[in-house]
Amino acid sequence: MDTTLDDLVAQARLRFAQASDRAALENEKAALLGKQGALTALLRGLSGMQGEEKRRLGAQINQAKQQVEALLAERRAALDQRLLDQRLAAETIDVTLPGRGRSTGGVHPVIRSWQRVEQIFRSIGFDVADGPEIENDWTNFTALNNPENHPARSMQDTFYVDMTDAQGLPLVLRTHTSPMQVRYARMHEPPIKVIAPGRTYRVDSDATHSPMFHQVEGLWIDEHISFADLKGVYTHFLRAFFGTDDLTLRFRPSFFPFTEPSAEIDMMFKAGPLKGRWLEISGSGQVHPQVVRNFGLDPEKYIGFAFGSGLERLAMLRYGITDLRQFFEGDLRFLRQFNV
Ligand code: FA5
Ligand code: MG
Repeated sequence: MDTTLDDLVAQARLRFAQASDRAALENEKAALLGKQGALTALLRGLSGMQGEEKRRLGAQINQAKQQVEALLAERRAALDQRLLDQRLAAETIDVTLPGRGRSTGGVHPVIRSWQRVEQIFRSIGFDVADGPEIENDWTNFTALNNPENHPARSMQDTFYVDMTDAQGLPLVLRTHTSPMQVRYARMHEPPIKVIAPGRTYRVDSDATHSPMFHQVEGLWIDEHISFADLKGVYTHFLRAFFGTDDLTLRFRPSFFPFTEPSAEIDMMFKAGPLKGRWLEISGSGQVHPQVVRNFGLDPEKYIGFAFGSGLERLAMLRYGITDLRQFFEGDLRFLRQFNV
């Protein structure tokens, strides 16, 4: 081949190799094969030739052109591959890194107990009601036969809110769920059969008392609801809640201004690690006639029972926990145990 053409191909090889990206490469291509390109100029020069010489040179130029085009294609492919490799390296995903994880939340053990209590009472025909945690002192105390300034109020030392409600009544953080008896009974006709679980507050703090805790109130009012019904319902409830018949109940005489007679409900497991120890679960009693009157009902006609149980206490017994404050420390190592 003509040495000019050999040089041209050699030069193309060199310059293509030196082009470090596609734009530089395309510039080199234009310098050879473009309108002003060296090879194009040679091809143009053929027009002034004749016969055998023209054919021979034409064939050589075409061959050189094909070589240049092959070199170009090769370099384009190499540059594209390099770009792809760079991208792959930059966007690489290390599949061996530990995942960030998406932790699923869990239901708090006290709320689990709450849900279980609701499910059991619903299954025996109780409605479930909800009410305000900031309560007026008439509903929290007075309507429940706790007269103003009566020392019985100090059994439930509470947090007063420096505000009054629309009727001008002082507001307190409710000390028990019992005001829900009054709210619910004043809005429904007998038979009244309801539980009201929720948060309650007192100035209390030790291993079995928290300033914020949960109670579940129960109320059944009709024409012939007696203490025997309380015993039957509560026995069924505890057996269902703890999933065992191996427990006994005791109704220990007590005092609440809103029930007469009143009793603490204690229970004892007949088997298991807590076997043989009486444990207080709940306050209870026959609703006091004055409270029935405050419900807007005739105490000569309507009678029934109420109870108020501590949900933390139920959860503590169910899970064998000895210090109730653990429920509210927010320690995930403790809380996770209940979500396995
Ligand atoms: C009452 O609160 C009454 N309202 C219960 C009642 C309702 C009696 C209806 C009659 C009829 P007492 O103060 O005993 O009663 O509280 C009831 C339960 O709440 C206790 O047995 C205990 O389980 C739980 N409890 C009381 N204070 C706390 C506290 N600070 N922390 C955790 N649990 C508590
Ligand atoms: Mg008590």
